[in-house]
Amino acid sequence: MPASNNLLQKLQIQHPIFQAPLAGGGDTPELVAAVCNAGAFGFIGAGYLSPEQIGEAGRSVRAKTSRQFGINLFAPTPAPPSDASLDMAVQRLSPYYAELGLPAPTLPGKPPYGFAEQLTAALETGASVFSFTFGIPAPEAIRAIKAKGLLLMGTATTVEEALDLEKAGVDAVVTQGSEGGGHRGTFRGDFHAAMIGTISLVPQVVDAVRVPVVASGGIMDGRGIAAALALGASAVQLGTAFLTCNESGVPEAYRQAILHAGEDQTRITRAFSGRPARGIVNRFMTEMESGDGAEKIPLFPLQNALTRPLRTAAAKQGRAEFLSLWAGQGVRLARRQSAAELIARLVRETEEAIGRLQASSQEISRAKSGGTTR
Ligand SMILES: Cc1cc2nc3c(=O)[nH]c(=O)nc-3n(C[C@H](O)[C@H](O)[C@H](O)COP(=O)(O)O)c2cc1C
Repeated sequence: MPASNNLLQKLQIQHPIFQAPLAGGGDTPELVAAVCNAGAFGFIGAGYLSPEQIGEAGRSVRAKTSRQFGINLFAPTPAPPSDASLDMAVQRLSPYYAELGLPAPTLPGKPPYGFAEQLTAALETGASVFSFTFGIPAPEAIRAIKAKGLLLMGTATTVEEALDLEKAGVDAVVTQGSEGGGHRGTFRGDFHAAMIGTISLVPQVVDAVRVPVVASGGIMDGRGIAAALALGASAVQLGTAFLTCNESGVPEAYRQAILHAGEDQTRITRAFSGRPARGIVNRFMTEMESGDGAEKIPLFPLQNALTRPLRTAAAKQGRAEFLSLWAGQGVRLARRQSAAELIARLVRETEEAIGRLQASSQEISRAKSGGTTR
């Protein structure tokens, strides 16, 4: 692996590899701790957790590792209108509820906690990094995070977003390439315009900001890691690759869908949550977005709340056609193994890829100096 950089030293990790926060149950405490114990850095994706659950997750990770770990929340987004279109959304979902033997869905109520309460709980977990996506928390939240001594990392899908994050005081920017699985972090401008692939996004952000850049989106093996480092990233963040680890908490039907999917089988959808996210195409996604269906889907987090009971029941019944199968375009490279095995493989493959780069560089030098090349 390349010489350790500032970020690695600060976090006392051996490898420039972050396990992405995987909100929704992917990142169990077992996974986060196994990643940290293997010399990489694990995140608790706490976006959907209540303050109590955040406390529990933190304690559970701490009981399994003495290493540093991170926590992630969704930056607050404007509340979507709760109007008559919601009744139509409920009606559209009713047949699916019936198919899974569930009573008809009801309109989501106001959640009993907000970002402020989640943040207070997150800051008590003992995490040493706070990362966020979907926007930028308010200045007072950022001050509270920094006052606690946590490193701050925010997600950018464009150069402008990265500059906004730097201005807000982040210690590192996580770039999210359009290949990546899960929700898009885009918070400035148009979602479609912000679909920038990792190979384009990373060097442009690296050139624009002074803080370290962590590359994410479509990175599944050591070749991807070496490429991201060559583009100027200080570290990488992998999501999909960790979902098929033994310690991940995704339902087996979800894991199998990833293990059997190809690079052309994921798509950006609003069907499950109301916010654009990349997942493996399935029946629910296709049916909800057929015709003008996509326009009738309420915004995040309303649609997310409306489909949650459906997704929970589908997980219990092993019905992948109703699960949000978040995954990136690198799915074909996913393997089932332990987190420690994955990290050992990533480290080995990165060294091999860097070795190949060095060999080609020597070959180019020889060619330039008129030596023989075959
Ligand atoms: C199931 C799943 C859940 C995710 N949850 C979060 C999250 O809670 N917070 C966050 O910042 N990013 C989240 N992400 C996005 C990742 O941080 C990262 O951008 C993405 O996984 C990178 O692409 P890859 O999946 O191709 O590795 C999630 C991704 C997936 C696949």
